Amino acid sequence: MNKSLLGIFVFLVSGWWLMSCKNEIASPPTPETIFRQPAEFGPPLYNFSQNPVTKAGFELGRRLFYDPILSVDSSLSCGGCHKQFAGFSDFDHRVSHGVFDRFGNRNTPSLANLAWMSEFAWDGGVNHLESFPILPITKDFEMGNSLPNLVNTLSKHPEYPPLFKSAFGKDSITTQGIFRALAQFLACMVSDNSKYDQFVRGKATFTSLELEGLQLFRSKCSNCHPEPLFTDLSYRNKGLEATASDSGRALITGQSSDIGKFKVPGLRNVAISRPYMHDGKIETLRQVLDFMASGMHALAQLDPSLMQNGKAGIMLTEAEKDRLEAFLKTLTDQEFINDARFKDPF
Ligand code: HEC
Ligand code: HEC
Repeated sequence: MNKSLLGIFVFLVSGWWLMSCKNEIASPPTPETIFRQPAEFGPPLYNFSQNPVTKAGFELGRRLFYDPILSVDSSLSCGGCHKQFAGFSDFDHRVSHGVFDRFGNRNTPSLANLAWMSEFAWDGGVNHLESFPILPITKDFEMGNSLPNLVNTLSKHPEYPPLFKSAFGKDSITTQGIFRALAQFLACMVSDNSKYDQFVRGKATFTSLELEGLQLFRSKCSNCHPEPLFTDLSYRNKGLEATASDSGRALITGQSSDIGKFKVPGLRNVAISRPYMHDGKIETLRQVLDFMASGMHALAQLDPSLMQNGKAGIMLTEAEKDRLEAFLKTLTDQEFINDARFKDPF
């Protein structure tokens, strides 16, 4: 290549590069790109057409999620229990720690891919993402507030009325506006870029331990934790306690056969969201595997798939536990837990 041709080539390449940078600066993410649809996940269950995501609505939801003003004494935000670095769960406490130092009876679950779920909480007691926040906002051992009081506080706040106006076009703040903004934020929390996801897309390689772990997982765990969400959204009894101290799903259905059944949790970011299970009684992933291999109670309500030759549990050797543990660690999504869009804006 002679010098003048090289010059033209450099000129063209740098021109293209400058233009593409300028493009990025000139076009911030559009509302449509805040929610990302991973091809593998299939259509979401959350009906976005009833509450279209806008930048203003999403940002308002994010602010509400992180604002302690939602709690009765302005001490605790949603994000105070659902911490981003822990996959939006809480590893300071076995069970949730609410206002006035009150403790709940359940472990704070991690949050991800909620748009593909239709029932929420460990017992699935709430069947709409938009109505879910009523629970934490009003429970006396979580945020201890009331909805009229919250609407009143936000309406008197200097910054919230204009933010609601730009999100929903109305001057007045309503509970519906609060719920819709929070739902826009929650529904956009998509975790789909862990090493596992990259492996599935052919963009990363697994070590042999991780690969064997995935194969083992597919044969022993996938009937309840199927990919890509790692939950079949059902309720199962995993034989955690000899006598259930929390009735679980039975609290909702009133059926005694549902006693001790809990929602199968999606396992994304599971390695960083300890402690485990609805009661937070298991501290480490290894202990979860130990429990499954040798700690399960043979209850009448135990899930039939967990009963093998009259023995409760899933047979696992120590080497198999190593493989499963290595695989579960590939579900940590660094991009998600560091994503600036989901960070505390205050
Ligand atoms: C005191 C700690 C605490 C606070 C504050 C809190 N949560 Fe939670 N969150 C929990 C616990 C515990 C559960 C499980 C509840 C249950 O099963 O009964 C939960 C469950 C959830 C779920 C259901 C997840 C699933 O997979 O089913 C969502 C969504 C959620 N919280 C969002 C929020 C939002 C939004 C706020 C703020 C309005 C909030 N949380 C405030 C502790 C908390
Ligand atoms: C019969 C269905 C079923 C099978 C099979 C199953 N699980 Fe689970 N898993 C559940 C349920 C239900 C829970 C929640 C139980 C509770 O909290 O009481 C759970 C909880 C977990 C948790 C804790 C997650 C958290 O966020 O607290 C991990 C980790 C886990 N399972 C991994 C596995 C692995 C690994 C396998 C295979 C060796 C497996 N599971 C097989 C139903 C199942």
